[in-house]
Amino acid sequence: MRLVITGASGLLGINLAMESLREHEVVGVDRGKLRSAPFDVVRADLRYPDTVESLIDSTRPEWLINCAALANLEACEEDPLQAKILNTDLPGALAAACAKRNIRFAHISTDAVFDGTKDGFYTEEDEPSPPGVYSQTKLDGERAAQQANPGAIIARVNFYGWSLGAQRSLGEFFVNNLSEAKQVNGFTDVIFCPMLVNDTARLLLEMLQKDLSGLYNLVGGQRMSKYQFGVEVARTFGLREDLISPRSVEGSGLTAKRSHNLWLSTHKLSTDLGHEIPAFSTGLTEFYTQLQQSYPQKIRSYQHNAALTA
Ligand SMILES: NC(=O)c1ccc[n+]([C@@H]2O[C@H](COP(=O)([O-])OP(=O)(O)OC[C@H]3O[C@@H](n4cnc5c(N)ncnc54)[C@H](OP(=O)(O)O)[C@@H]3O)[C@@H](O)[C@H]2O)c1
Repeated sequence: MRLVITGASGLLGINLAMESLREHEVVGVDRGKLRSAPFDVVRADLRYPDTVESLIDSTRPEWLINCAALANLEACEEDPLQAKILNTDLPGALAAACAKRNIRFAHISTDAVFDGTKDGFYTEEDEPSPPGVYSQTKLDGERAAQQANPGAIIARVNFYGWSLGAQRSLGEFFVNNLSEAKQVNGFTDVIFCPMLVNDTARLLLEMLQKDLSGLYNLVGGQRMSKYQFGVEVARTFGLREDLISPRSVEGSGLTAKRSHNLWLSTHKLSTDLGHEIPAFSTGLTEFYTQLQQSYPQKIRSYQHNAALTA
């Protein structure tokens, strides 16, 4: 398939591009960070609807996966207009442009559409209750995409992995700091379902291949606190878990409100795919193996100023 990936310099985008390359022809959309990536790259600032139309006409994909977003919660609180443009208007415009041209469209949303007050897990049937600007604009983006393109896949994700800038994911946060013997905090009262981003990417491709559509929770099958996640990372990487201090997210100084419970059920996804979601331990082992095999260095070398940031 000919696949266009927006947000190709992002944590999901770059890993999705790398996974897709095995079987597909990939075009990544980027604002100028990528250089010498092993796939075609087109430059575009996607804030403008005209850009969206011309991008799709010039790249002519069969599938388009939208990984572009304003994904920093604090930045969204500071600039709600940018958050709306990127998280709501852009998916709506991409979804409509794809529907008009019969292109299969997948949009990436977030587990954070829930305020976390439910006792137990959230399914796709639960009514979202976004606690801040990021989550509200992401929820509005889901709805805009679904309305413009009812056949679209909307995937609510949570992932960790190796990123272009080496500090985009919680996994990297723990590895980077613990490797330098730095003390860090781990939140004990934020429950989530982390998935290795490469698993997220492979499952997204499988969802497109199997012609799924609609809303799916695409997160790890095991829930844990962010503190527990840090401890698991430390153990797998042979780093010091005693450097992680168990703390509450309340009083952490983060301006955007965090939900305490982001336990999402993956029952719908595993049923429709016909197999289990990859286990947390398998993903974490792969995260470690990737480091052993210099995968982080490889993707960082695709960055424009790689020599300055390596
Ligand atoms: N990380 C997580 O665990 C997590 C959790 C829940 C949901 N998500 C969702 O997953 C998706 C991918 O997240 P991520 O972590 O990969 O985010 P990320 O690393 O911040 O990547 C965002 C991408 O969007 C691009 N972008 C931003 N503004 C743009 C613009 N005006 N024009 C074109 N591209 C633009 C960025 O380009 P630049 O590099 O040039 O800025 C970057 O490639 C997002 O929809 C996010 O909401 C992520």
